Amino acid sequence: MKLLFATSNKHKLLEAREALKPYGIEVEPCTAPKLEVQAESLETVAAYAAQVAYLVTGKPVVVEDAGLFIEALNGFPGPYSSYVYKTIGFKGILKIMEGVEDRRAYFESAVALAYRGGVRVFTHRVHGRIAREPRGSGGFGFDPIFIPSGSTRTFAEMSIEEKNRYSHRAGALRKLAEWLLREASSLYTG
Ligand code: IMP
Repeated sequence: MKLLFATSNKHKLLEAREALKPYGIEVEPCTAPKLEVQAESLETVAAYAAQVAYLVTGKPVVVEDAGLFIEALNGFPGPYSSYVYKTIGFKGILKIMEGVEDRRAYFESAVALAYRGGVRVFTHRVHGRIAREPRGSGGFGFDPIFIPSGSTRTFAEMSIEEKNRYSHRAGALRKLAEWLLREASSLYTG
């Protein structure tokens, strides 16, 4: 099965390819613009963007939206992660977190599939902690400062395969894959 994934982020694309390969799902990039509404829920952002991408492509299409939620900051930056990354980056987050002992944080991913039957959203969280200093050169975004529970390494120190064993995105994509394999026949017919 082939699945369109609307993203301009090549890391997300590679992660999705790797996560969906075991299900026999081939991920194809699609250039439909990801239209981001300002909303406090990742599900709303992903669902809206997927519907727009579906209107543009006319084919079942997936959009993903993610955010980093830091417990000591009451969930900041959460749905504003993209803006915060662009403005202060992970160095800014480390600065805000200086002297903060509670390092707990989680990443959440919302994966939305839009198709003729409507929109389905699958979410997943990975809990972990904010590192004291950046480590690793792989991945993207806040990867150098996020250590998932069960590991001592940051996402940026991991291969895609290893990151996918923990990650919010791979978790949400696996939920999508399981649903797709059950519903595939009705999705692409009629
Ligand atoms: P987006 O809107 O889904 O692209 O994600 C919002 C922001 O969260 C991005 O700009 C990244 O900085 C960050 N982000 C999302 N997913 C990841 C991830 O897997 N690792 C590190 N940072 C991420």
